[in-house]
Amino acid sequence: MEIDLSKVTLRPFKLEDADDFLSFADDDQVTRNPSRWETLTSKEEALTHIKDACIPHPWRRSICMDDRSIGFVSIFPFSGDDKCRASFGYGVAVKYWGHGIATKAVKMAVSQFFVEFPGVVRLEALVDVDNKASQRVVEKAGFQKEGLLRKYAHVKGKLRDLFLYSFLSSDFHAAEGS
Ligand SMILES: CC(C)(COP(=O)(O)OP(=O)(O)OC[C@H]1O[C@@H](n2cnc3c(N)ncnc32)[C@H](O)[C@@H]1OP(=O)(O)O)[C@@H](O)C(=O)NCCC(=O)NCCS
Repeated sequence: MEIDLSKVTLRPFKLEDADDFLSFADDDQVTRNPSRWETLTSKEEALTHIKDACIPHPWRRSICMDDRSIGFVSIFPFSGDDKCRASFGYGVAVKYWGHGIATKAVKMAVSQFFVEFPGVVRLEALVDVDNKASQRVVEKAGFQKEGLLRKYAHVKGKLRDLFLYSFLSSDFHAAEGS
């Protein structure tokens, strides 16, 4: 399949995305890593998830190809003393894997988010040690690997080792020349 990466866009989710959303959110291969995502099984669940989780999310975007939803990217800003940080998550429908779509979406998300949330100086991504594709995505997008967090979190019921990656707003602004 030929993919034109210039057609990859990010936009907020809408209820009309339910069928497209379900086509990847019903797939364990896509939902197995984001720890707080349960695999969905019906259009009704997809509608509820879009309404209750995607639309109210501080910064969750649909990754679109020709404006059809093929994935998601989320950045969640922390609050209080942690308001300098935000955490990153993303997923792409399996049939689109391996074409650079996640990398393009992560790069776009980083640049949009830092403009919209100027108080956040650090983005973090926690990536399972076995998730080589995701490690490549953050590395290609310019994140720095900071270390290994041993037995850091339960992911889908299993205690996992996770790599910690970060991207600082100062790195972004330096690359932008501002
Ligand atoms: C991780 C994920 C988003 C990647 O999406 P994608 O659109 O295929 O990503 P890209 O095409 O931009 O880049 C994938 C890279 O991983 C590499 N890769 C894929 N599988 C790999 C493997 N098993 N070992 C090593 N590298 C691998 C690809 O070759 C590519 O790198 P390259 O460009 O240097 O060749 C997708 O696999 C996914 O949705 N996974 C399930 C959800 C998930 O894990 N989310 C991340 C949570 S931290």
